[in-house]
Amino acid sequence: MQTLTSRWYFAASVLLTSALMAEVAVSGDHVAPAFDPTERLPAGSATYQGKLSKKALMHPAPNISFEDRMDFNLGNSLFEKLWVSSPSSTTASDGLGPLYNARSCARCHARVGRGHAPDPTVQNDSRTSMLMRLSIPAQTPQQKRLLAGFQAGVIDEPMYGSQLQDLSVQGLPAEGQWHVTYTPHEVVYPDGRKVVLRKPSYRVDQLAYGDLHPDVMLSPRVAQPMIGLGLLAAIETDDILTYEDELDRNHDGISGRANRVWNQTQGQIEIGRFGWKAGHPTLLQQNNSAFLADIGISTTTYPYGQGECTHRQEGCLALPNGNSEHLDSVEASAEMARLVTFYVGNLAVPAARNVSSPAYKAGREAFYTVGCQSCHRPSYLTSTNAPKPQAQQRIWPYTDLLLHDMGEGLADNRPEFLANGREWRTAPLWGVGLTELVNGHNQLLHDGRARSVEEAILWHGGEAEAVKQHFMQLPKTQRENLIRFVESL
Ligand code: HEC
Ligand code: HEC
Repeated sequence: MQTLTSRWYFAASVLLTSALMAEVAVSGDHVAPAFDPTERLPAGSATYQGKLSKKALMHPAPNISFEDRMDFNLGNSLFEKLWVSSPSSTTASDGLGPLYNARSCARCHARVGRGHAPDPTVQNDSRTSMLMRLSIPAQTPQQKRLLAGFQAGVIDEPMYGSQLQDLSVQGLPAEGQWHVTYTPHEVVYPDGRKVVLRKPSYRVDQLAYGDLHPDVMLSPRVAQPMIGLGLLAAIETDDILTYEDELDRNHDGISGRANRVWNQTQGQIEIGRFGWKAGHPTLLQQNNSAFLADIGISTTTYPYGQGECTHRQEGCLALPNGNSEHLDSVEASAEMARLVTFYVGNLAVPAARNVSSPAYKAGREAFYTVGCQSCHRPSYLTSTNAPKPQAQQRIWPYTDLLLHDMGEGLADNRPEFLANGREWRTAPLWGVGLTELVNGHNQLLHDGRARSVEEAILWHGGEAEAVKQHFMQLPKTQRENLIRFVESL
């Protein structure tokens, strides 16, 4: 009898414990793993360990060879190069536009950092480092086939193309202008603290080519920071895919999936890694699409000298372009695109800061306890097959590179390949805390609406709702520590 009872007790307590554990897992409780000394060096041997200034993100990865420094510097000057319109006496610099958003990469990615939303209280504040993507739902069977086969990620707005170019060469009207206004949105913590978020709404006017399609979908995006991108490219695809959990089999409420996108040069479907919705598979393609749509410069990936003029924009099509035979019949030769990609792929990530401080330690604990790491996947060992400086590095980018439903609040309602209107790629967190130093602002998220790490967290919804709630229930000092930790990465 005695033994039976204790057996029953044992069985019952096992049941109880597993029920408890299940509940704990749902609410996202996790124990932080022991501190790994490599966390100090988030980009492995590509980590910059020198003094931090406004140029903190502009350093070459220290692990590139002396000869490669040359390529880095050449890539750097192409990144900063101001393109001019055709025809011009300097054929190696012409081809701008005819429609464009900026004359150089660096104009948007200032000090290779992040862009910002214009301040509506400042008259004519620069909109340059942010752009407005456009598209429409598929209208024809052919367009539906394009999307279903992944040959296209969006259907362009028929007159204006895939983004609104608010600048143009002389003699041609720019497409139009967009504007943002904010309404306050108050959030109250369980302990009574209030934070007033700003909810953006967008409007487009001064349209020079007629009305937008009635079903047009807008997606505002700020320029992303450029650090560590070669390392994100060097993560094994399978390593990313093992974290996919589309059907939420582990019942943590979080179901990431990789975007599947078109590789323009290979002519095949690959997983997406770059852009706020992971719409491009490789750095080269991301860069060359920026050359085309943002600056109006053709490359061997997108050889259209007319940039983003659509076939309905006849005045734009009639203008001269800068495609030249000695540059592979485009405006930025294959070698120029290679150099830019080398540069963008080898920008060092600064070392983590304050790692021995009590706030960092406590904040790190809290980060794992509330479950931020279920999307902001801390660490990877990069592929052995990657180019040498990026191969086999232990890195700490804090992203799973997967898409997550972030709720209605952050939705742009504009799909891009597999990413639906509520889904975004988990943003890497390395270097986030250096935004103020480098770019003089603290704006975060895809449209720069958050003005601090705290605001960014409070905008998390959808799959991240439970984690956010857990964060909000933490005592104030714990929340502050968690934010300090994120700002130290
Ligand atoms: C008009 C502003 C603008 C210009 C000019 C511009 N970019 Fe960007 N860049 C952006 C925006 C906005 C995004 C986010 C795009 C998205 O989500 O689709 C971005 C994203 C990127 C990314 C992806 C980063 C990541 O974390 O996934 C790379 C790489 C990049 N740009 C490189 C370049 C290069 C190289 C040039 C010059 C050829 C350039 N950009 C010019 C605004 C700009
Ligand atoms: C369900 C997945 C998920 C969880 C859980 C999650 N995040 Fe995020 N996080 C994202 C995605 C996706 C974005 C990009 C959203 C956007 O730009 O609209 C993001 C963006 C951010 C940003 C802004 C980064 C930038 O470059 O603009 C910060 C900061 C951040 N998260 C911190 C946290 C912290 C801290 C936690 C835990 C309290 C957390 N996140 C939990 C998915 C998640």
